[in-house]
Amino acid sequence: MNATQEKLKVQLEQALVAAFGTDFAGVDPILVSASNPKFGDYQANVALSLSKKLGKQPRAIAGAIVEKLDVSEICEPPEIAGPGFINLKLKTAYLEAQLNAIQADPRLGVPAAKTPKREIVDFSSPNIAKEMHVGHLRSTIIGDSIARILEFQGHDVLRLNHVGDWGTQFGMLIAYLREVYPDALTTANALDIGDLVSFYRKAKQRFDTDAGFQETARQEVVRLQAGAEDTLHAWKLLCEQSRQEFQVIYELLDVQIIERGESFYNPLLPKVVEDLDKSGLLVENQGAKCVFLEGFTNREGEPLPLIVQKSDGGYNYATTDLASLRYRIQQDQAKRIIYVTDAGQGNHFAQFFQVARKAGWIPDDVELVHVPFGLVLGEDGKKIKTRFGDSVRLRDLLDEAVSRAQADLKTRLQEEERQETEEFINEVARVVGISAVKYADLSQNRTSSYIFSYDKMLDFKGNTAPYMLYAYARIQGISRKGDINFKELGNNAVLLEHETELALAKYLLQLDEVISSVEQDLLPNRLCEYLYELSKKFNQFYDRNQGVQVLEAEEPQRTSRLILCDLTARTLKLGLSLLGIEVLERM
Ligand code: ARG
Repeated sequence: MNATQEKLKVQLEQALVAAFGTDFAGVDPILVSASNPKFGDYQANVALSLSKKLGKQPRAIAGAIVEKLDVSEICEPPEIAGPGFINLKLKTAYLEAQLNAIQADPRLGVPAAKTPKREIVDFSSPNIAKEMHVGHLRSTIIGDSIARILEFQGHDVLRLNHVGDWGTQFGMLIAYLREVYPDALTTANALDIGDLVSFYRKAKQRFDTDAGFQETARQEVVRLQAGAEDTLHAWKLLCEQSRQEFQVIYELLDVQIIERGESFYNPLLPKVVEDLDKSGLLVENQGAKCVFLEGFTNREGEPLPLIVQKSDGGYNYATTDLASLRYRIQQDQAKRIIYVTDAGQGNHFAQFFQVARKAGWIPDDVELVHVPFGLVLGEDGKKIKTRFGDSVRLRDLLDEAVSRAQADLKTRLQEEERQETEEFINEVARVVGISAVKYADLSQNRTSSYIFSYDKMLDFKGNTAPYMLYAYARIQGISRKGDINFKELGNNAVLLEHETELALAKYLLQLDEVISSVEQDLLPNRLCEYLYELSKKFNQFYDRNQGVQVLEAEEPQRTSRLILCDLTARTLKLGLSLLGIEVLERM
């Protein structure tokens, strides 16, 4: 609900009491956006819901409310329509005043959160020595955008990379490292083992075909857990190598994140099991320690246990998550913890959340949210692969987007007979390519799977990054053409006359509503839709036929329209920045 709606709501509540007495204090006036702009901007539907209680016709009730309603500063005289809707139409003078007010506001009228909270966004979280795949890319893009929105709202956000840097697979990797780089374990220098994914594959192959190697690998696991120096050294080398590879992706995407991998919580794991035992939740089942879950059953329909310690003493993914959850609540003081992973992990989160709740570890003021997302599919609707059938390397995927953007740009420059520097071309291609990938992901409702198509995401038409970037650059073009400094347009100069001006103005004033909805529901696609719709409204306003003239217009319209241009551009820039997307002044 935005500031205007809040004001209207208060007035409606007061009118209700004035008309029917204090019994009606606190009754929700049911204020919603108008179903049809013909009838105004908002409507209050409360009269219909009170008909029974008051024993009156809804239209009569609406009439009694309207008689006491004072919204003259904000709205035209309210009208009663249909069975008893109260229709409210915003006054032009009110809209003008609102726009004049946000013109000087870097937040464009979006109020910061009233009660800033400590929030954790757990995202990206690839696994060491394994491939960072498109699922991690989605998590990185969505998680980063959520974090940016929460930060903008003034929350104290901790961006955590829950890297998979521990587990029995390290036995095999270290044993193999010892074989192929015997020196690496004793030298202090970092080593370059090349492509870690193929290293992992080779190690796995050794492991699967050689019983002796398997035994060595197992011993390495024991040595690692016991903290043997050379084994730890090897483990660190592997982590460092992966970290460098991940960092390349984070830099390309301009993503900030703090690594706090699974290994960080190792010392806390025994206490998790101990405390579960103390609270009477722990059950021994075939040597494993587990907690039985409610609402989850195995294939035979029997209750499902969540194993927190295996019969060999090892801990699980879920145990680490339980430990990290406690740490985040106790040490980090988080009030909302957001986990961004593929929907396939839904059960995992539901299960350990349940166990933590049962154990009484989640205070009432702490919210746990799993933010699931669907798959990234190839153009054939199947799992995304390269032409050669291999899984796609993220680096290649991003590079390809940039080089396609560059090819498109060069064609366009030729068509337009424009000369641009190499530097300009590279920069535009980089921004367009990376934005296209991010926007294609964010503009989908994240819960659904989406098809990864370079052609679609790089298209200048439709709900794409290039379309949005172009709308922004086009507005900057107006300022260049008219030699206008947007920062120096007069104050209190907004004047709304034309239909397309009013439509654009109303839309500009909805940014706060959209941002607060994303802050709650964590669906960045709503912000994308808003920006797309805004660009369309702008294009209608600036359209030669159905819209208005801007640079050619007379004063005072000219300045007012330039302010609308500037506000649109600033809204686009701000909105895109919250999606992790940079704008271009020219493209
Ligand atoms: N490393 C996991 C994976 O690659 C994701 C971790 C998500 N975060 C968490 N706290 N479990 O699937």
